Amino acid sequence: MENTENRTIPEHVALILDGNGRWAKRRGLPRTMGHKEGCVTVEKTVEIAARMGIRYLTVYGFSTENWKRSAEEVGALMQLFRFYMVRLLKIAKANNVRVKMIGERSRFDKDIVEGINRLEAETKDNTGMTFIIAVNYGGRDEIVRAARKMAADLETGSLKKEEITEQVFASYLDTAGIPDPDLLIRTSGELRLSNYLLWQLAYTEIYVTDCLWPDFNKEELEKAIDAYNKRDRRFGGVKAK
Ligand code: IPE
Ligand code: IPE
Ligand code: MG
Repeated sequence: MENTENRTIPEHVALILDGNGRWAKRRGLPRTMGHKEGCVTVEKTVEIAARMGIRYLTVYGFSTENWKRSAEEVGALMQLFRFYMVRLLKIAKANNVRVKMIGERSRFDKDIVEGINRLEAETKDNTGMTFIIAVNYGGRDEIVRAARKMAADLETGSLKKEEITEQVFASYLDTAGIPDPDLLIRTSGELRLSNYLLWQLAYTEIYVTDCLWPDFNKEELEKAIDAYNKRDRRFGGVKAK
């Protein structure tokens, strides 16, 4: 899709929102204040991305490794999650956004699981951007869960060994039916994937900014998309169509 400034808008943008803790530290605030501010930035980014014409936006909200943080920080993140889920439902409805969660949700408290299910159910017919939140998500965990589901189907005979292809494998992942990301943006300067979308990022263009997540805004997103526009995308040495 092309917008008014002749930018080609990537169909799917994946985000690693990092740096909430550093943002708070710089201001002498507790880490949780950084997370709170980060949630406000997520809300704003959903609206900005939807208006820009991005079709899929996937954000990494909580990784399978994030449970290792202090009980206090994990607890605060869960409380924020509860609060912002309700706000997100309103924003999604107002912006025709379909919400989907990826990751293993059964580890969350019952009310959070219900909230996630409600968000998905009440926005499933929206036809605008799809907003995907990765919670209790890990790329390796997703691949292992997919392998288990496949093994179960092999056992019942509904899937045959010879039928397993890359496409079939992908259909067992949490992201089934969602195109692979075109652009990955990581805030706060870290040059690693942190177990994010390991299968899906195979040919994604990577953009890292030093901007801390709570400071991310429309200009930062545009800068990332402009950099993406200058890339010479290739798949196996062959130019992209
Ligand atoms: C990202 O910010 C938010 C989550 C991972 C939940 P961090 O909390 O990782 O912030 P830094 O990396 O410590 O600055
Ligand atoms: C990645 O950030 C996970 C999320 C943004 C949810 P982390 O801050 O947890 O990653 P590392 O520990 O720096 O790799
Ligand atoms: Mg971090």
